[in-house]
Amino acid sequence: MQNFKIENPTVLHFGRNVVRDLGKTVEKYGRKVLLIYGGGSIKKNGIYDEVMGQLKQINAEVIEYAGIKPNPIVEDVNAAAEKGKQFQPDVILAVGGGSVIDSAKVLSLAIPCEHSAWRIMINMAKPTTAIPLITVLTLAATGTEMNPFAVLQNVQTHKKIGYGNPLIYPRHSFLDPAFTFSVSRDYTAYGIVDLIAHALENYFGEGDASLSDRFVYSIIREAMEYGPALLDDLQNYDLRAKIMYAATCALNGLTVFGRVSGDWGVHDIGHVLSLMYDAPHGATLSVAYPAWLKLMKGRIPDRITQLGKAVFNASNSEETISSIEGFFKSIECPVRMNEIGINEDKKPEILDMMIKNKVNGVHYKLSKEDIGRVVELMY
Ligand code: NZQ
Ligand code: ZN
Repeated sequence: MQNFKIENPTVLHFGRNVVRDLGKTVEKYGRKVLLIYGGGSIKKNGIYDEVMGQLKQINAEVIEYAGIKPNPIVEDVNAAAEKGKQFQPDVILAVGGGSVIDSAKVLSLAIPCEHSAWRIMINMAKPTTAIPLITVLTLAATGTEMNPFAVLQNVQTHKKIGYGNPLIYPRHSFLDPAFTFSVSRDYTAYGIVDLIAHALENYFGEGDASLSDRFVYSIIREAMEYGPALLDDLQNYDLRAKIMYAATCALNGLTVFGRVSGDWGVHDIGHVLSLMYDAPHGATLSVAYPAWLKLMKGRIPDRITQLGKAVFNASNSEETISSIEGFFKSIECPVRMNEIGINEDKKPEILDMMIKNKVNGVHYKLSKEDIGRVVELMY
């Protein structure tokens, strides 16, 4: 096992009506609030009103930046940073899914910094301070609510990349499973795929960490047992809660402690597909994971079988892979490119972009031939 240090500073407020504590929590940091959110779902489902009610109670001075897109773009963060530099908020309040929270994380660094958001993302700037960030999560998937990562897209340079910095752990995250009732069936399913993918990326990382392996199995089992039930009953609080907590645990450190790192090759592949075709993150993963596993079948059969035995009672790597693919299909997530509207004629441009973006795993390196094979296997 690798040496490790556990220091996760995010205070997680989980459960029904936790947002009732939002106002007094924000107030600890100040009354000048920059509120950031997405395309308007929070106005339809009443979350915006609840949040504003909390901010009114503390007489907060609020400015808003709205319109963060799924697969968020760096231009929005730069524009929000312009507003923020003039307003000088005491605290940033992000209300939304991963796209909103990730944008807010980079924004929290960009406001007090001379550099653009992208220079921060590519590590050309070394921020030393961040505006405190509080989040209200509205979609269970990414784990961003309790981790130090953000993923943004740069349309000009054709890149979608991840960034990590301990300064961007949210100070507090509020998770009321009822806030996810209005998430559509397809995005609920993508969230289930995403959380399973996070557990898998860590499982296929480097290093022997048997307890972390067991957390991986448990999280995947939880998602497989309760995910389909949730998709048949989207307003079920307990099922929403189980999936929401599983998503947080899949990427808050629990599944990686004791390893050198996760692998993240499949996410790299998925990011290119989101970048090129604006495909939802979870949908790229349900296509890419089975393909990556098929590529790895000859290379790491025992590791794949170990997972399959623990989770599906599978007896070999083939059975494990078909169980994973079968599960994604059963929750109506795409497992082939044409199911996300990307036809065979796109293969050359996809391969080209993957090579330009240096798609790779941290642990299992991918040669150009490997990437070509993965592209074939996704069809
Ligand atoms: O824009 P709004 O109106 O908020 O609508 C969103 C969006 O259309 C909607 N939505 C969110 N909450 C809702 C809701 N609709 C109804 N009711 C609600 N309660 O759902 C759509 C998707 O939202 P988005 O935030 O894009 O989804 P998700 O949470 O899956 O985030 C995806 C982004 O996170 C990145 C992905 O790459 C992608 O850009 N990731 C971030 C990670 C991290 N920071 O640790 C790790 C992940 O692997 C992932 O890469
Ligand atoms: Zn993900």
